[in-house]
Amino acid sequence: QKAQIGVTGLAVMGRNLARNFARHGHTVALHNRSYGRTKELVEEFGHEGTFLPAETAEQFVASLERPRRVVIMVKAGPATDAVIDEFAPLLEEGDMLIDAGNAHYADTRRREAALKAKGLHFVGAGVSGGEEGALHGPSIMPGGPKESYEALGPLLEDIAAKVDGEPCCVHVGPDGAGHFVKMVHNGIEYADMQLIAEAYDLLRRVGGHSPAEIAEIFKGWNEGRLGSYLIEITAEVLKQVDAATGKAFVDVVADAAEQKGTGRWTVQAALDLGVPVSGIAESVFARALSGGKDERAAAAEAGLPGPSAGAEHSGDLVADVEQALFASKIVAYAQGFQQIQAASKEYGWDIDPGAMAKIWRAGCIIRAKFLDFIKQAYDKKPDLATLLVDQYFLDAVSGAQDAWRRVVVTAAQQGIPAPGFASALAYYDGLRAERLPAALIQGQRDFFGAHTYQRVDKPGSFHTLWAAEGRPEVDA
Ligand code: 6PG
Repeated sequence: QKAQIGVTGLAVMGRNLARNFARHGHTVALHNRSYGRTKELVEEFGHEGTFLPAETAEQFVASLERPRRVVIMVKAGPATDAVIDEFAPLLEEGDMLIDAGNAHYADTRRREAALKAKGLHFVGAGVSGGEEGALHGPSIMPGGPKESYEALGPLLEDIAAKVDGEPCCVHVGPDGAGHFVKMVHNGIEYADMQLIAEAYDLLRRVGGHSPAEIAEIFKGWNEGRLGSYLIEITAEVLKQVDAATGKAFVDVVADAAEQKGTGRWTVQAALDLGVPVSGIAESVFARALSGGKDERAAAAEAGLPGPSAGAEHSGDLVADVEQALFASKIVAYAQGFQQIQAASKEYGWDIDPGAMAKIWRAGCIIRAKFLDFIKQAYDKKPDLATLLVDQYFLDAVSGAQDAWRRVVVTAAQQGIPAPGFASALAYYDGLRAERLPAALIQGQRDFFGAHTYQRVDKPGSFHTLWAAEGRPEVDA
């Protein structure tokens, strides 16, 4: 008997993916650096399906039917390279290595090129949904050579989350496309989390609501247009009471948000592509600020003052914050999708943005009701310049904007940081501005560096002879 698929790296994510394949009737070969984990999996979950445990890489490879499909689920970085180096020499032409970790897309591009030269298919697959998703149905974003999807796609689609029977898995595009999209998914995840955190903070500090009350507010929101996994779990976290102290759980957790790096990568890539993902950037920076121990201690010691008089919020705070949250979320997604489209163009990936929205509707961390509307927007107009001009989102944001502005005003007046809400609003106003002060920046650049500028009334590049007063501008 041979296995249809193999998994190497049996920590919790790998183990759950392997079980998911087995539960769908596939025979799964198992391999792990130390055999103990492999044995454990079979002892505990062997009854769930058919597993072929292997002690060595050679046994593992021998137990797979051809073309071999080897899922790698180890730490991103050097550990992944080490596993590739171990397995590649044992594989034959047409076999596939599938990296299901959170790899950097540039690493995936490099690995794919190197393995292609050896006749092997390398598939960088984004997998979202955490441990539970891996077991019960993740959202899967496989990249790599299109032809690899013929032999691999059906298996991945089997174990993926489903919406109305449709799998949350699609071939994203060549080489690093899958991992790029997964990276942006995580960047959007950061933005979503930051915006939710700001909403909580304002409800608590401006509205005076307790964490338990805010949990109820979020539960209510989850029934509406904000309905999403992250809103749902936020209500759960806020409801939680610390057993040791009897305090709200959120009050006993150190307020320094950590990160493993995918949000940062998203911003780094966006800087290179020149795409303003300000929502994601603010959320990465907000985490960094929260972790800035020395700076925060110095500020506390110096007693950096807040506003002298706290103005009241004018309006229904809960309703206004819901509007601000929804509008800012739309901006963050618009920016993330713009980044995917820019990368798709840059690397020739030909990514279908509507299909990305479609496979994010279930299984992944950012799954949300409103992804349906994003899908519809791109189905209607695949080359949409920005989601904000799609009618649904345009209506949502214009309906929200007065409340959104009130919330940002209140935050500023009361000295409560709301970088996500405020930067999203600034982005929105920037986008719709008829004239931007960028013209002045062009003037400054031309003044100090003769960098030239374009005019609104005629084509060409111009430079003004700034030192010689009264001298006419000249064509550069
Ligand atoms: C997912 C998640 C996951 C990610 C964690 C940790 O899609 O299942 O995005 O891949 O590793 O969310 O992210 P940070 O530690 O950077 O917050």
